[in-house]
This record gives sequence, structure tokens and C-alpha cells, in this order.
Amino acid sequence: MQTVLLNDFKRQWSEIGEEVRHAVEAVGASGWYVLGAQVAGFEQDLAQFWGLANAVGVGSGLDALEIGLRALGLRCGDRVLTTPLSAFATTMAIVRLGGVPVFCDTDAKGLLDLEQAEAVLAADPGIRFLLPVHLFGQSLDLDRLAALRDRCGVAIVEDCAQSIGGAWSGRPTGSVGRLAATSFYPTKNLGALGEGGAVLTGDAELAARVRRLRDYGQSAKYRHDEIGWNSRLDELQAAILRGAMLPRLREWTRRRQQVAAAYSAGMRHAGVRLLRPTDGEASCEHLFPVTVAPERREQFEAHLKSRGIATGRHYPILIPDQQALAGVRVERHGELAVARRLAASEVSLPIHPQLTGEEVERVIAAVNEWPAEGPTED
Ligand SMILES: Cc1ncc(COP(=O)(O)O)c(C=O)c1O
Repeated sequence: MQTVLLNDFKRQWSEIGEEVRHAVEAVGASGWYVLGAQVAGFEQDLAQFWGLANAVGVGSGLDALEIGLRALGLRCGDRVLTTPLSAFATTMAIVRLGGVPVFCDTDAKGLLDLEQAEAVLAADPGIRFLLPVHLFGQSLDLDRLAALRDRCGVAIVEDCAQSIGGAWSGRPTGSVGRLAATSFYPTKNLGALGEGGAVLTGDAELAARVRRLRDYGQSAKYRHDEIGWNSRLDELQAAILRGAMLPRLREWTRRRQQVAAAYSAGMRHAGVRLLRPTDGEASCEHLFPVTVAPERREQFEAHLKSRGIATGRHYPILIPDQQALAGVRVERHGELAVARRLAASEVSLPIHPQLTGEEVERVIAAVNEWPAEGPTED
């Protein structure tokens, strides 16, 4: 029995290999390997896809967050309101700049609780930055986020590493903050064959600053206006993203949405709760998270494994509980109980564009046939 994988890169390769070979050939023959025509062309295509005026390619999603926060003026000691449930990179970007992460709880779907976030910001005007995450491919309520931004006057960087192609009422994630940051890590919906990321913004001046910061803070050759990074998306990854991946992204997203719709329609189990988008939200279905009772999670995972189905956990340890933050200044509001419960109960099921219909049916059947005894997840 072939395992149903969380991502199937070998199948992806059989789909894209031809275009990737062309992309590599074009870069090799051009004799220009860093910050050339491929990066510029990809940035234009990405900006157009996203519906934001400017895209700047950088070395990773982490760098996109870090450079984005610095471009907005974050300095050592500045406090940043953020979520405790995300990839560690979200908080790492703040800490690497000397900023102080301030955590507040998530809602039941795992996204930053905007009501609580607004209460914290209103009570504490010293917090000048907000770094929310559109987790799992879901979009935060962008109307609420925009209202919070206007009322509290915080500078927002939206972490869109998991939400490329996601939208709220027809508006793309990343369009409320002053900047959006995304990742081209291979598992992402728009994945490279290596590392990469981008900062997107409607603000041309901010985009120019991000361009300087990614390249040693240079404003002209050998003229350095500020301390920057070496974080340049390379020509090879840009050519691959542009030639093989981005042209397929809409179709791949549709396929993910079909899989998610089939799962939602087919999965019926009292002990398994699906974390699904709310009205108004178009998820790009980066992950398919479900929750089970924490004490039965390992058993659920073992059952799926015995049926040849791979699973993941996003994320098993809350960021403020990570060892790396012991001794680092952080602040938290309350017990973060909702996020903590999700960290203990979440399981991610396979979702990617190369899944076959037969595999989708296998996943649904395996979930539905999980022995139902024991406590149920409410
Ligand atoms: C929500 C989120 N933010 C940031 C990142 C960091 O991206 P990268 O791995 O490209 O540095 C990731 C990817 O792991 C992510 O999922």
C-alpha cells in the first residue's frame, strides 16, 4: 500500500521537470546569477498575481518578516503583538531584531483572536507593531484587521507564508498591513526547489527600502546607507518559480480546494473536528487541520499510519513555551488557553495538488473508520 504523503515532491517533479530544466538552462546561459532579469520578472509576475503593486524577492520567509519589520522601523526593545501558534520563524524574526514578542491568544480556528488583540493594543499604546499570521491557508477577518489598524494605529506586517492565494471578501491576505511577507519553502503552496521568500507592499518607498535592506543596505554600488542583510532571492529559484510554479498556482489552489471540499463533505466522525474557513473567507487550503481529544491524538495518528496515511502537527509546542525563548524577554496575555488546547489536539491531514481521487477517498474512509470509543473532541 502506497503511503498518502503530506507533500508529494516526486509527483510534483514529474509534472514540472521539463519547465524547471528550461529555467535552469536559461539562467545558466544568461551568465547572470544574482539579482538579474529572472528575479525582476518574477517579482513583477508575483505582484500581479497578488494584486499588490510591489514584490521584492528575498532569501526566505524568515528574512521577509525580519526585513519587513526593520523596514517599518522596528528597533531593539520595540514590542510586537503576535500569535503563540505559528511556525517558530514568526517570533524569531521579532527576537532577532531585538524586539519583544507580546503574545495573545488565538480563536478556535487557530488564528490570532482579533478581539483580544484590539483590547490589548487599546490598553497598551506602547505596542506599535502587529505581526498576525494567516495560518493553515485561512484568512483573518480583513475587515476587522483593517478596523483594528485604523483605531489603534499599529504598523502591521502580515505573515502570509501559508496564505498565498487566500482571500477575505475578495481581498487578498496581505493587503491590510503595510507589508506582507511570504515564503517559498518547498512545502508552501508556491514552493521553490530550495529557499526563498518575498515582501509585498502597495507602498513604493517601503519596497525600495526592502530592496536596499536585502542587499547589504546598498542604495548604489558600494554605497551603504544602513546595515542590511545578504538576502537576495537567487536567479535560479526565481526562474523556477516564474517558469514552472507560479503559472500553475491558480490550478493547484483549485485542486487543493476541491480536496478540502471532498474532505469536508465526506468526513463524519464525532471525535474529529474540522477547522474550516468561515463565511467570507477563501482559504488557499495550505494545510487541512483537524482536532481530536488530546488524550487520543497519538491513537488517531497511529490509526491513520496503519492505513497508510501520513499526518503532521501544526504546531505541537506553543512558541512562548519553546526552549529557545527561555531567558528571552517576552510578554503574554493570559493563559493562551485556546492556542494551548489546539497545540495539544491538532492533526494535519494530507492536502496537496497531486493527491489522486482514490487517495482522497482513502483519507476520508480512514478518518470515518477510526474506532469511536473514548472521549470526543468538542
Ligand atoms: C507561518 C510561517 N511564517 C514564516 C515561515 C518562515 O518561512 P521560511 O521557512 O521560508 O523561512 C513559515 C515557514 O516555515 C511559516 O509557515
